[in-house]
Amino acid sequence: MLDIPLMQDNIVEEDKRALIDFLEQTDRFTQGPQVRAFEREWSEWLGCRHSVFVNSGASANLITMMALAETLGKGEIIVPAITWSSDISSVLLAGHTPVFVDIDFKNLAMDENEVLNAISERTKAVFLTHVLGFNGLTENLELELRKRGVVLIEDACESHGTRFARDGRDAKVGSVGFASNFSFYYAHHMSTVEGGMVCTDDGEFYQLVCMLRSHGMLRENPDPAVRELESARWPDLNPEFTFMMPGFNVRSSEMNAVIGRKQLPRLDNAIRQRRENCELFVENLRSDRYFTDFDLRGQSNYALVTLLREADSELFARVCEKLRSENVEFRRGTAGGGNMTRQPFVRRALPDVCPESFPHADHVHSFGLYTGNYPGLEKGKIERLCTLLNTL
Ligand SMILES: Cc1ncc(COP(=O)(O)O)c(C=O)c1O
Repeated sequence: MLDIPLMQDNIVEEDKRALIDFLEQTDRFTQGPQVRAFEREWSEWLGCRHSVFVNSGASANLITMMALAETLGKGEIIVPAITWSSDISSVLLAGHTPVFVDIDFKNLAMDENEVLNAISERTKAVFLTHVLGFNGLTENLELELRKRGVVLIEDACESHGTRFARDGRDAKVGSVGFASNFSFYYAHHMSTVEGGMVCTDDGEFYQLVCMLRSHGMLRENPDPAVRELESARWPDLNPEFTFMMPGFNVRSSEMNAVIGRKQLPRLDNAIRQRRENCELFVENLRSDRYFTDFDLRGQSNYALVTLLREADSELFARVCEKLRSENVEFRRGTAGGGNMTRQPFVRRALPDVCPESFPHADHVHSFGLYTGNYPGLEKGKIERLCTLLNTL
């Protein structure tokens, strides 16, 4: 039996120790200095000016889309047909309209030409997902969006440390667009158990996101001049309880931040190991049977992708059966849920969107899956997994 779980040992002994030590010496558990320190350290690691720690990647998606609605108004957001559900539900919940585009097999992200063709005067932003650690951006797409003044939001929840070459320089994804989202859920490149981050260089967007994280409260705005100005505008209100917009409570806690701060120094090493595992896997897979032409430049693999080259239901059933019998955990459709336009909540919200209009996403939906990749995954197991798939 191969026995490969989706994730192993993402919260280790030294994280538990750090948490116990913290609990023994603190009286403050709600968002405070540990959260602020984690945000500073994360910004430094990513290469951005501001980061806002929240309780999940889905919450990061939600308040990002709400903040866009506050600043740019509601409109169309271009989204990929392969992504996580919260990338679409956040768009809907914030009152925008998702406009779906198909994906490119080489990185499982939005097809560049389809994105450019989908832009209209109603477009508010392109919400790009870097899927499973592949860089989803091209230099041309980034340049075109900049030229056309279209806001780029990056979802890097599955792609911590993935690199994108821009202007001859290497940048981490999530530091390229106007804002970005990360997840620290258990199976990700690093974990705070549950957690997420909104990142941006834009000072005003940062202020909005801070307020949206905490009920829309003015006192959460980090700029004292804005707090003073707004308090003067609303003299009948207590400045401590002035609610500027409909917000949520999606704060995290000091405990989660302590785990994140302990994990962050190990992140680069974990990324290197995940990257090597992915290269070994792709090199050893039969390229006539499985898709192996991924653009691996800058990748920081989240999970290993098995994608049939041809539509073959019988072979795919055998792949699934074999993985089950070898106790290899897997998820069909790669980034959770496959072709999003097939999901009930999308079909109800957008009955005119036809799932068959996204043939690449549909191929991944029916003939793609991922299996776990984590730093401790033994090279021998990866080779045996490939042999097993190759001989089916
Ligand atoms: C691309 C993407 N966006 C958003 C999320 C949501 O993150 P979370 O599970 O932390 O809510 C995920 C979840 O894994 C994801 O893969």
